[in-house]
Amino acid sequence: MVRALVTGCAGFIGSHLVERLLRAGQDVIGIDRFTDYYPPYLKERNLAQALKDPNFKLVKADILDIDEFPAVDWVFHLAGQPGVRASWGKDFQYYVHDNVEATQKLLEAYKSAHITKLVYSSSSSVYGDAPLPMSEDSVPLPISPYGVTKLAAEHLCYLYCRNYSVPTISLRYFTVYGPRQRPDMAIHKFTQSILKKERISIYGDGTQTRDFTFVDDVVEANMLAAESDMTWGCFNIGGGSRISVEQLISLLENLLDQEANVQYVEKQRGDVQDTLADTQKTQNLLRWQPRSQIEEGLQKYVDWISTL
Ligand code: UGA
Repeated sequence: MVRALVTGCAGFIGSHLVERLLRAGQDVIGIDRFTDYYPPYLKERNLAQALKDPNFKLVKADILDIDEFPAVDWVFHLAGQPGVRASWGKDFQYYVHDNVEATQKLLEAYKSAHITKLVYSSSSSVYGDAPLPMSEDSVPLPISPYGVTKLAAEHLCYLYCRNYSVPTISLRYFTVYGPRQRPDMAIHKFTQSILKKERISIYGDGTQTRDFTFVDDVVEANMLAAESDMTWGCFNIGGGSRISVEQLISLLENLLDQEANVQYVEKQRGDVQDTLADTQKTQNLLRWQPRSQIEEGLQKYVDWISTL
């Protein structure tokens, strides 16, 4: 039986990955600090299903406070301080602590433990405003402090692979959505605002685009990365559903059969204008490709909202 560690196990993507690993009959240890960046009860709800499984063990702790890490085959490192727009100013310290220092601690812990793979959850924000489609071959130039910390952690993965032979794969996710999406993200905020007849704030003019990626596709990418023979690499995980913020709002209006009330506010610092993943390398080397189109994924999201 494979043993897996999932950091950030109570989060949006982490909780789906835990369920996927448990379904595959694996032994899963989850670490989560239950930070209050968004209400911790949402994280408890994310984990409710997994906690019923005897093969799941939860460790509630900050990675930096853990002295001994469990012996495992696979490490999935999803813990981190998310949010592109909130990473300026004094709060940058939390991004450094959670995204850089915690990653270094984990790599130190496993540098001589003979794990089969460490899969690191990186972000399209490492690219900044790179030309489209964004390719792993381009030199990453983040434009947000958050992006800088995600890129720094990718570099840490590389150097622990190079110096200590820790097999690490970094997956660069492009705006992930689906059931349990974080409440600070656009699809969650827009859906709630439409349903509650509250006003949506569009940052900038709404023409900015995102290559939205459905959460199940991201989970599958993690499985393929863990199973692959590669010992190092960075891979784009983009859904192939690039639409603008205004188009996203129209799709949600149609699905919810209600009109949105929008206002345009200042463009946020650190927000890139457009994203689109070149996924050729991921298709060739990890045999991954996205399966969910945006309309189908949004329908699943809206269906999930109605069960709450
Ligand atoms: C998302 C995640 O939040 C990051 O953690 C992740 O690393 C990143 O994707 C990524 O792909 O690398 P973002 O693309 O900003 O970041 O995702 P959303 O928060 O869902 O925003 C999508 C778009 O909607 C952005 O252009 C944003 O400006 C816009 N938006 C968001 C608004 O116009 N209004 C809002 O209230 C929220």
